[in-house]
Amino acid sequence: MKRIGMLTSGGDCQALNAAMRGVVKSLLNSGQDVEIYGFLNGYRGLIYGDFKMLTGRDFSGILTVGGTILGSSRTPFKTIKDPDENGLNKVEAMKQNYHKLQLDCLVVLGGNGTHKTANLLREEGLNVVTLPKTIDNDLYGTDMTFGFQSAVDIATECIDCIHTTAASHGRIFIVEVMGHKVGYLTLNAGMAGGADIILIPEIPYDIDKIVEAVKQREKNGSKFTIIAVAEGAISKEDAKLSKKEYQKKLEKSKYPSVSYEVAAQILEKTGQEVRVTVPGHTQRGGSPCPYDRVFASRLGAEAGKLILKGEYGFMVGYRNREIVKVPLEDVAGKLKMLDPDSTIIKEAKMLGISFGD
Ligand code: F6P
Repeated sequence: MKRIGMLTSGGDCQALNAAMRGVVKSLLNSGQDVEIYGFLNGYRGLIYGDFKMLTGRDFSGILTVGGTILGSSRTPFKTIKDPDENGLNKVEAMKQNYHKLQLDCLVVLGGNGTHKTANLLREEGLNVVTLPKTIDNDLYGTDMTFGFQSAVDIATECIDCIHTTAASHGRIFIVEVMGHKVGYLTLNAGMAGGADIILIPEIPYDIDKIVEAVKQREKNGSKFTIIAVAEGAISKEDAKLSKKEYQKKLEKSKYPSVSYEVAAQILEKTGQEVRVTVPGHTQRGGSPCPYDRVFASRLGAEAGKLILKGEYGFMVGYRNREIVKVPLEDVAGKLKMLDPDSTIIKEAKMLGISFGD
C-alpha cells in the first residue's frame, strides 16, 4: 500500500489535472494499492490538514479539464517559516499532518515558489516528488513546463485577432502577455503571432528605439504595428534602479502596467493612436492544448515510476527531449531566464523583430 499526498500550489495553469491523472493512473495500472490524500488549495491544505480522500474515479474525465480539482493558492516561501495569525508553526504543521496520515510521499505540482517549499520539506525529512507547472516556463532544471504551450496558444490567438483589426485601422497595438520575470511566453506568442516589436524583462528597452522601429515600418509602407509586451518589460533607465526604487516608482505610476506607459510614450513621440489589449488570466484558463495533455501525462507517469521505486527528492523535468529526474536542491531558488544572446533571439532579430534595444 502506498499512501500518497497530493497538492497543487501557486498560480494555476492548464494540464494540472492531466498531470495528476498521469500519476494516479500509472500507480493504479501497476497493480499498486494506493490511498490518495488530496490537500486542498495548495500548501494551505497540508498546513491545516484540509484534505479529501480520492480514488481512481476522481481522476477519470479530467485530462482535458483546465484548472485543478484540488484548488490552488499562493503560500509565499518568504513567510513560510513565520507563524500564522494564530501562532501556528506552518512548517511543523505540514510535517505533523504528513506523519499523522502516515504518508509515503507527497506529490507537489507547482512553479518556482512551490519548489522552494517542496525542497524545504525534503530537507525536513519528507519524501517529495514534484512536477513542473507554470505558463511562464521559468522553472530551472527543465526545458519545458506544462501550461506553457497552452498559454502560448491563447496569447497567440489574441495577437492574431488584434492583427486583423490593426490592419483595418492602421493603428499601433500593444498586447500585454503574462510574465513578470521572464519573457518566454511573450517571445513565443510574439513570434507566432507575427509581432513587430517584442519587449521582455531580459532585454531592457529604449523607447526611442521602439519609436524608430514604428517609423521604419511606416517608411516601408506598413500601416500598423503590433507590439507584444511582457508584464515585466522594463526600460533601460528603470533597469538601473534598485529593486526597491523600481517598486516605489511602480507604486507612484499613473499607469496600470508597463504597456500603458509605453503606449503613452509612443503617442507623445509620434502623435499616433495606440491601443492596449491585456488578455490577462485567460492565458492560464481553459482546456490544455494537445501538447500539454501529452506532456503532463508523461511527466505524471514518470512521477508514478519514481514513487513505485521509492526514489524521492526529485522534480520530474524535461531536458534535451528526454524526461529526467532533477534533484530538488538543484531547482529550488533558481530562475530560468531567456538569454539575450540565445539563438532564438538572434533569429527573431534576423526576421526583423525589434526588441527595443
Ligand atoms: O503563474 C504565473 C503567472 O500567471 C504569471 O505569468 C503572472 O505574472 C502571475 O502568475 C499572475 O499572478 P496572479 O494570478 O497572482 O495575479
